[in-house]
Order: sequence, then C-alpha cells, then structure tokens
Amino acid sequence: MKTPVKVTITGAAGHIGYALAFRVASGAMFGPDQPVILRLLEIPQAMSSVHGVGMELEDCAFPLLYDVVLTDDSAIGFRETDYAILIGAKPRSKGMERKDLIEENAKIFSAQGRAINNYASDQVRVLVVGNPANTNALIAASNAPDLDRKQFTAMTRLDHNRSLGRLANKTNTLVADITRMTIWGNHSMTQYPDIGNCLVKGTPAFELVSRDWAIDHFIPRIQRRGAEIIEARGLSSAASAADAVVDHVRDWVLGTPSGDWVSMAVASDGSYGIEEGVMFSFPVTCENRDYEIVQGLELDEFSQSRLMASDRELRKERSVIEELLPKT
Ligand code: NAD
Ligand code: LMR
Repeated sequence: MKTPVKVTITGAAGHIGYALAFRVASGAMFGPDQPVILRLLEIPQAMSSVHGVGMELEDCAFPLLYDVVLTDDSAIGFRETDYAILIGAKPRSKGMERKDLIEENAKIFSAQGRAINNYASDQVRVLVVGNPANTNALIAASNAPDLDRKQFTAMTRLDHNRSLGRLANKTNTLVADITRMTIWGNHSMTQYPDIGNCLVKGTPAFELVSRDWAIDHFIPRIQRRGAEIIEARGLSSAASAADAVVDHVRDWVLGTPSGDWVSMAVASDGSYGIEEGVMFSFPVTCENRDYEIVQGLELDEFSQSRLMASDRELRKERSVIEELLPKT
C-alpha cells in the first residue's frame, strides 16, 4: 500500500464539507489504492457537529481511511498536510452576490494562508472553495510567502461541470461526449463559460448550437446557476460543489485526459492579457500535481470583452482587500 496522503478540509461540519469528507475517504479523489488521513478543521462552535462527522466516518469502515483528526487548531489541522481544501466560510443567501461576502470571509483566508505557510508540507496543494473563491485564493497565496503561487488554486470546476451538463442536454449527447469546455475568469456573474472550442463527439459545438443560444441562454444560465440553486433550495449548492472539489483535485493530481482540458482558477502569468497575479479561471492541462495554462486559443472580440470584464472585476476585488495582502 502507498503512504497515506494527508487531506485537510476546513468547514468540514458544513454542507459541502459533509458531502465531501465521505467521498475523499472512499477513494473517489485519489483512487482505490491511495490511503488517506483526514484532518477536519472547524471553528470551536462547530466542534460538536464535526465530532458527529468523525463518528459517521468511523461507522463507514472505509478501508482507505487510516486516521481522522478533528480540530479547531489550524496548527494541528494543517500540520504537514499534502492537500488543503479551504471550504470553511460564510455562504451567500438569496439576493446577495458572492462578492458581498468579501469583507466577512477575507480574514479567514489571510490567517489560513499564514498557517498553511507555517505548518503544511512544502509541496502542499491548496484549493479554495469559500466565496468569493478567486480573491480568497489570492489572499491565501499572498500570505504564504514560502510557497509557490502555483500551489494555490480556486474552484471554477462546478461552473465547468454545469456547462458540460447544459451543453449535453441541448445537443442530446452525454457529458462524456464533450471535450474542451472552458470557464474563463471569476467565479461570479462575470465568468465566461465558453463553448467556442468545445467538441461534441468530435464536432465543433457551434455546428450544433447557434451563437444566439450561447449568448442569450447558455452563458447567463451558467452565470446564474448558483443563484438558481439558492432560490430553489434556500441554501447554496453543496453536493455538486463537493463533487466538483473531487474532480478538481483528482485531475490536478492524476492528470487530465489527453486531448482535453479542465477549468481552474490559477494565478495569472499574463496569459491572454490578464493582469498578472490575479486568480483567473483558465483552461488548464494537469500532470503530476502540476498544471499548465492552455496557450494559443483564438479569442474573438466578444470573448476578449468577456475576459476583460472578469479581469476588471478581479482587480476591483483585489483593491477591496489590499490591506490583507502583505506588502512586498
Ligand atoms: P456552511 O455554512 O454549510 O458551512 C461552512 C462551515 O465552515 C461551517 O461549518 C462553519 O463552522 C465553518 N467555518 C467558518 N469559518 C471557519 C474557519 N475559519 N475555519 C474552519 N471552518 C470554518 O457553508 P457551505 O454551504 O459548506 O459553503 C461554504 C463556502 O463555499 C461558502 O463560502 C460558499 O459560498 C462556498 N461555495 C463555493 C462554491 C464554488 O464553486 N467555488 C460552490 C458552493 C459553495
Ligand atoms: C455556487 O456557484 O453554487 C456557489 O458559489 C454558491 C453561490 O453562492 O452561488
């Protein structure tokens, strides 16, 4: 058997954390031969609840689950961890935008960035889920000066998966028939779900659906899907978010299939004219716990303007939390 990997889940007593912990323990994230040690990090008020999660994990008797640590101490929660999945944060409710959470949630991510810097494995991989995810990831990465920016990502995989579902439905195909979906930008209303490079069973998507459908129906539907779920459930997405976490980390670690890519928010290196440093969702290929931004995609004027709108929004979010970014 392989050496177990240590996986820290913050906010593990919350809705997403509860849906996620069992899937990680079952082997869905790292494969059927990779043991895991779970570190469930919560706030003191939620420790009783997270103890219940720990009891249920034990009751599942997962063969791959070697240990579970329940704690409200980030020094213990992040100690030598290989994967830090930062979910613990406030969710939005009806009528809010994700960026309305910025002031309240931002401080969590500066403290956790410092703790990851100090206690985690120097090869740790970090995924930020708590909203506004892109800017929270920027805060965490900026507070971890000893780590590489490439070790920090934010989640747009849920938007990516939503887009696959929508396009499969429209073209009467299976999600497995679709490749090269892309989410550009911020996990917000300015995100740009782009089917311009998609192939459906090898056929370009725009030979099967019209540009008007993409602009008038597909793009706004994906942009608003989070709010649509909140409207229906009275709570934000949880099981689908946990599923996207599994997909994001699995592909980062085990690699993306040849000829395809996935969407991840990563530190911009200036690709496609995006401000360097902001956490922007790009199409990426992954191999061996590393990613590369897909280069050379053609962007027409419409696409360019969508990317720039998200870039502007991310710069604005950055200016709101500037005091949480250590001065260089
Ligand atoms: P929730 O309220 O059900 O759970 C949040 C949990 O985090 C709670 O148990 C709380 O005690 C814990 N927590 C709060 N501060 C913490 C801290 N400093 N350290 C550790 N734990 C802490 O919320 P949820 O539905 O699980 O959503 C969590 C976050 O994920 C929200 O910000 C939500 O908007 C976001 N989200 C993001 C995506 C995405 O695609 N990026 C998708 C869905 C939800
Ligand atoms: C989502 O996309 O479902 C999450 O970011 C939750 C939200 O606030 O929309």
